[in-house]
Amino acid sequence: MRVLGFTNVQGMIFSVGAFDAFRTERLNLTEFWKHSIATATAARFLSPRVDCSPDEAFMAGILHDIGKLIFAIQAEPGYHQVLELKRGATPMSSLEAERTLFEFTHPEVGEMVAERWDLPARYVAAIAHHHDPQAAGDERVFCALIGLADQAAYAALAGQTPPAEHDAERAALLETLSLSHRQWDDCLQHLRDARTEIDSFVGAIR
Ligand SMILES: [Fe+2]
Ligand SMILES: [Fe+2]
Repeated sequence: MRVLGFTNVQGMIFSVGAFDAFRTERLNLTEFWKHSIATATAARFLSPRVDCSPDEAFMAGILHDIGKLIFAIQAEPGYHQVLELKRGATPMSSLEAERTLFEFTHPEVGEMVAERWDLPARYVAAIAHHHDPQAAGDERVFCALIGLADQAAYAALAGQTPPAEHDAERAALLETLSLSHRQWDDCLQHLRDARTEIDSFVGAIR
């Protein structure tokens, strides 16, 4: 099911971009949108492996970290602390840093917002379980797709270092999706090829 057309997503991104510019000059959401669009691009590329449409995979990729956006906008000082904890001497994962500072993690906050927006169950699941697909019941494979696309976005985009715990997670995701390392490499190459397109899309919202 398509809830939001591509134009609407663009509209949503534009309005958040404008809001951000209005609200603060310190908060830079460029990396956030680059990551979201790269995840969406990877999810669409891998979608033939799963029972879902390419559009559905793309949309779930755009939305998967929406909880981070809520933190960034609603709790900006705390969000900066999350970024600092992730870069600190003993780096924490996003989830650990969020749990420490906010008590909630971005999948938990994202799930609440997605439910309030009445998004279809599949998108709610992808937002809530892209870091733990095994907990997603019937949507386990779809959530694994978004989880793997998330990792591909980190791995393929320079300047976005994949967290160390990703290696073991990636192996499990590839197994869930019955994907080979060759297909993983093809996905990374696809993202590198799409880099200019992703950059110009994000550039348009700044
Ligand atoms: Fe996430
Ligand atoms: Fe992500």
